[in-house]
Amino acid sequence: MAILDQHRADLAALARRGRRRSLIPRAGADFASNDYLGLAGSGRLAESVAAALARGVPVGAGGSRLLRGNHPEHEALEAEAAVFFGCESALFFSSGFAANATAFATLPRRGDLILYDELIHASAHEGMRAGKADRASAAHNDADAFADAIGSWRAGGGKGRVWIAVESLYSMDGDRAPLDALAALADETDAFLLIDEAHATGVFGPDGRGLAAPWQGRDNVITLSTCGKALGCEGALLCGPAAITDYLVNRGRGFIFSTAPSPLMAAAVRAAIGIVRHEPERRAALAALIDHAAAAGLPATGSQIIPVIIGDDKRTMEIAGAVQAAGFDVRGIRPPTVPIGTSRLRISLTLNAGADAVTGLSALLRDLL
Ligand SMILES: Cc1ncc(COP(=O)(O)O)c(C=O)c1O
Repeated sequence: MAILDQHRADLAALARRGRRRSLIPRAGADFASNDYLGLAGSGRLAESVAAALARGVPVGAGGSRLLRGNHPEHEALEAEAAVFFGCESALFFSSGFAANATAFATLPRRGDLILYDELIHASAHEGMRAGKADRASAAHNDADAFADAIGSWRAGGGKGRVWIAVESLYSMDGDRAPLDALAALADETDAFLLIDEAHATGVFGPDGRGLAAPWQGRDNVITLSTCGKALGCEGALLCGPAAITDYLVNRGRGFIFSTAPSPLMAAAVRAAIGIVRHEPERRAALAALIDHAAAAGLPATGSQIIPVIIGDDKRTMEIAGAVQAAGFDVRGIRPPTVPIGTSRLRISLTLNAGADAVTGLSALLRDLL
């Protein structure tokens, strides 16, 4: 058998099932990025990088944080992020995927239970698979299901700590976790609450601090703010008690055995946090666009993420293709990214595409669906 046959056969099987993916160039009005505040291409972030270069900040960190890679830019970002988010300590990772994979693999210990929302991101699954804790899913956004699962686990002899894991704003559905009820449950059951703020950071909460802001600073709350979405950069800030970030510095393999993120990126993220904090008009403009989309007839989720569920994989990709051909960059999302039978268009509202484009997209979808 030729050395590549199995991989080719697997790709062909994906194609037969309508699930083969490929990279396509970006084109058309932006309804596909997570650059919600339009910061990624902004002159402001470019200037922050140019200024950092001019003061001698290196492009590469040159090593892992525990060796030569630790740079004052990383530490300045972490100190500022802790103040901004209102947590005791923040730790900068090179991506949200790396941060989640590391945190889920490292923090819950053997004998603990990770109880996660059934729609939680792939990066959390990656960490859980590598870790030693037990794991179970709970029905999406159903706080009672979380409570019942903790009760059953305890009744079955579970003795360790429970880790409740959710996204504050779901990446493919645009709906919000019942954080009030889950935080109360975590307190009642002496559990940790891990909140992935990837899609809420910069967009929601006081000063754009995210939907978890009211619970920041508690001993049992850990949040993840990715920097590659509304902040327009790259990387992620894991926020929580100093004992947690210190534990990850000492035990988190994805942190220890990896070259530190570019110090230039740390400088850019600091600038992005400053923009989010001091320019509420960007959040207001996005909120207005969200209202406009609902008024124009797109499904209302109350957030910038709007799923149009089609169901069938092939039809989803055909409609996505037609929408793209008309000049709107909307992507079809299929399993395994979303559950089987829920293939969808994921419309992402950003300040890169204005109200007229939203109106046009809505009218086109009315014709196509
Ligand atoms: C909910 C959620 N968590 C984590 C990540 C991973 O973050 P990053 O893109 O920075 O690796 C994503 C990215 O899609 C996400 O949607």
